[in-house]
Amino acid sequence: MLRVLPMLTRTSCCTASTESSLLTQASSTRPTCHCLGVTAEEIREEIAAQDLTSVRQVTKACGAGGGCTACHRHIKRFLAEAAAERAATESLVPAFGFA
Ligand code: FES
Repeated sequence: MLRVLPMLTRTSCCTASTESSLLTQASSTRPTCHCLGVTAEEIREEIAAQDLTSVRQVTKACGAGGGCTACHRHIKRFLAEAAAERAATESLVPAFGFA
């Protein structure tokens, strides 16, 4: 039996953009922590909302990382990104004279 599979092809810049946005949508809805079914967006929101700084705190907040620990490297990356963002924001404050 012949099966026709949908294919994403790069035929123009518009197609590449569509492909990219499809991949972004898929990765934002797919769980980062498969054991607990928590997405990257949910983890990032918890980190930002509660100023979390450790994997243990993230696990306590949303459950992510509470199983096999395979996602801990991703959670650590999200924590590092959030810390860098906070540091960049704090370094801007004196420059604008709000300190
Ligand atoms: S994938 Fe997150 S604890 Fe297993």
